[in-house]
Amino acid sequence: MLNWHELIYKIAKVESIIRKELKKIFKKDVGRAAGLLRLHFHDCFVQGCDSSVLLDGSAGGPKIVHKQCGRVVSCSDIVAIAARDSVFLTGLDYDVLLGRRDGVNFARVNQTFVDLVGPDANTTTILVKLARKKLDATDAVALSGSHTIGIGHTTSFTDRLYPTQDPTMDKTFAKSLKRTCPKPDTRNTTFLDIRSPNKFDNNFHDQDGELNVLTGKQGEIRANCSARNSDNKLLVYVAEEEMDHLLK
Ligand code: HEM
Repeated sequence: MLNWHELIYKIAKVESIIRKELKKIFKKDVGRAAGLLRLHFHDCFVQGCDSSVLLDGSAGGPKIVHKQCGRVVSCSDIVAIAARDSVFLTGLDYDVLLGRRDGVNFARVNQTFVDLVGPDANTTTILVKLARKKLDATDAVALSGSHTIGIGHTTSFTDRLYPTQDPTMDKTFAKSLKRTCPKPDTRNTTFLDIRSPNKFDNNFHDQDGELNVLTGKQGEIRANCSARNSDNKLLVYVAEEEMDHLLK
């Protein structure tokens, strides 16, 4: 068993490893920051921040973290830290509480449609869906601020332009979107924030990352973020061996 001192030291190390890795990754492709932030949102909105979003059986890491620190933080915490660092490395900082456990239940496809908000949602739908997560209109505005980084695909907005332009749309905005999407079947992307596409410069707060988190026996700390421990006995064994080795 780790004592508090060792645990805090190891968690600080996990955070520094993640930040260092992300710095390298974003140097090559800053667009990954937006992807990681959105991943955290999609994780949290469907059955809480339990990293069920990663359960695809693809045998992903987190190899470096486990190798150097053991299995001290959950995949859900790693997703939350990566989202926070994506915001930090593009412009703003916020505190993230740790201690989430990884979920042992897959998210059902139907549930993702219930919980997530599609690109065609109007304000009412957005507010109704957020209210289910105990978020109000002020939260909706703050969370929308996350679109200060990243890109949108024409498939997300083509229906508002063709066959007839949505009359509620700002005309100048619609005109500029039509330059990106001149025909209904155009495959293209546009920056969500055209003035500073890779800079996190809006108001944003972190409550997203605290939605329905699992604690204690409600969850686990996965040895492999893309598979439940019960599906992955050998990996758990290897990770625990490594951890024991580290603590010797
Ligand atoms: C609640 C209502 C929301 C709606 C309707 C919404 C909708 C969308 C849409 C349509 C896109 C473009 C997807 C594409 O065409 O590829 C997008 C991208 C994005 N969203 Fe949201 N979103 C919402 C909330 C959030 C929240 C809460 C966050 C973060 C906390 C977030 C973070 C992002 C980011 C970072 C991107 C860019 C992704 C990338 O570049 O890879 N969104 N969102």
